[in-house]
Amino acid sequence: MKLYIVSNRLPVKISGQKGEFTLSRSEGGLTTGLDSLQTPYEKHWIGWPGMCIQENEDKNKVTAKLESMNLHPVFLSESQIENYYEGYSNSTIWPLCHYFFVYTLYKSCFWQSYQEVNLLFCKKISELIQPGDKVWIQDYQLMLLPGMLRKRYSNLSIGYFHHIPFPSYELFRILPERAEILKGLLGADFIAFHTHDYMRHFISTVERVLHINFKLNEVQLGDRVIRVEALPMGINYNLYHDAPSKPEVRQAIDRTRKLFGNHKVILSVDRLDYSKGILHRLRGFASFLEHYPQYHERVTLAMVIVPSRDHVGSYTELKTKIDEEIGSINGHYSTIDWTPVCYFYHGFSFEELSAMYYMADIALVTPLRDGMNLVAKEYVASKCGNPGVLILSEMAGAAVEMTDALLINPNDTEQIVQAISKALEMPISEQQERLQRMQAIISAQTVNKWATDFMRGWDESFYKNEKLR
Ligand code: UDP
Ligand code: G6P
Repeated sequence: MKLYIVSNRLPVKISGQKGEFTLSRSEGGLTTGLDSLQTPYEKHWIGWPGMCIQENEDKNKVTAKLESMNLHPVFLSESQIENYYEGYSNSTIWPLCHYFFVYTLYKSCFWQSYQEVNLLFCKKISELIQPGDKVWIQDYQLMLLPGMLRKRYSNLSIGYFHHIPFPSYELFRILPERAEILKGLLGADFIAFHTHDYMRHFISTVERVLHINFKLNEVQLGDRVIRVEALPMGINYNLYHDAPSKPEVRQAIDRTRKLFGNHKVILSVDRLDYSKGILHRLRGFASFLEHYPQYHERVTLAMVIVPSRDHVGSYTELKTKIDEEIGSINGHYSTIDWTPVCYFYHGFSFEELSAMYYMADIALVTPLRDGMNLVAKEYVASKCGNPGVLILSEMAGAAVEMTDALLINPNDTEQIVQAISKALEMPISEQQERLQRMQAIISAQTVNKWATDFMRGWDESFYKNEKLR
């Protein structure tokens, strides 16, 4: 039996030109988390390889390369990338689900393309699946897909996980296509969210938009029962915890130490995204430097921003503002011996990232909204013996589990300043105790545990429906 993971993005992305293509690891919590998932099923993945490939010859080459790794590409045209990916997925649904409704754009060409691409994925799945296979759909780019598959296959086992926040009814009702989207999701047997709050929002939205009532966490639709659950996604804990003992990571740690000397290092790692609160973080750091001059030349903010969705207007504008803010801080405070913000606008390898996690004194994670935030968990997992303090926004899904972080409201600059100061002065013993308590939680709630819990709920729901049929 095969398990088909279906997501907009494959865990690897293609780059290059005409015939010469290379593969690299995709960034983003969905792919980094699920990529290291181990399951008793034969794991296959269906998704977009991350760039537009036009020539059939090139498509065949890429397909052959990916299929040898059980990865099945869905190719998108330039117009689909513009209207389905940058459009409906990332200019309509993403801002809405992250409570940035002023950024939300509504265009009929976006919606048309979203339907078209969901159908494209449906056709690809139909070409591949055999009786008994399971289809696990991931995230907001494919919310119509469960319903499309259900129309074709009444017996297919379909699961869906929503990796971003599900907003309250008051937000979701704004969406013109709210009913179609919810009906699409309800094509699955089992639907799960990172937190109880997102699940409650989904239930109340379904009840109010579709006028059907849940009994606890189940709803009956015709001859099917759909179950919903809150299951926080974890990481491959051992991968991060063991990384600092690997020779390549040790070398990267040495290089990183040389770069930062004996400065205290505050680390920040995100995709370029307005939901991540990057500007709030920079303003918090600037205010810290203003109020704590004793830390000048003693603290560096290492800011890693991975380019993301940079053709979407709101992201392009954000990039400009970040560049300006960093320029302003560095222009104002830099000395011959010190640059306060060390800025990287590119992705890092796993080894380099692990080294930064290991040696950073503080991780400053300040999203304004975040479905989960795996960076927070990866930082804590990478601290095998080394001290460190996690400062975490209470608006991240991860804050539900990481209660030993210094929790802050990112909208309150003063709280960011106080948290940085507290973290820098925190005794090592307290740092270790907090880390150990968080490590106990995230080493138990790994990505494999998350998937096993999902499968269990999904199977129970599927077999219940088998009996009803
Ligand atoms: N990441 C990466 N390379 C980088 C920076 C980040 O692979 O240079 C990964 C990071 O390890 C994490 C993911 O990107 O697993 C970001 O996930 P998170 O849940 O924090 O945020 P998302 O990007 O999914 O919103
Ligand atoms: C978040 C979303 C994922 C997405 C990732 C990276 O984690 O939940 O669905 O893949 O960001 O974004 P991108 O648009 O580059 O795929």
